[in-house]
Amino acid sequence: MEKALVPKQPRLLIVRGKRICLVRGDLQLLAVEDTCPHNGESLSKGAVNFLGEIVCPWHGQQFNLKTGRECAERSRDLVTYPVKEDPEGIFIGI
Ligand code: FES
Repeated sequence: MEKALVPKQPRLLIVRGKRICLVRGDLQLLAVEDTCPHNGESLSKGAVNFLGEIVCPWHGQQFNLKTGRECAERSRDLVTYPVKEDPEGIFIGI
């Protein structure tokens, strides 16, 4: 059985070979690439802070989950993916 998505708890998905970090935010589901652009850590091992940013567990870079922007511009932006949720499931535009 599929485990429910816990709000603000990142989940790693592998879809057609792409590693995607999926997060249930306050108002919507958000999906970004899972590989941290700084040095390759899996962002789904990180945490979501009170600003709604995913914080990389390795060196602490913080990325806006809606825009993908690293908050201090230390790395390139994350790739973001559109997400749609309806009664049939969750759809990610890769
Ligand atoms: S690998 Fe993510 S901050 Fe360094």
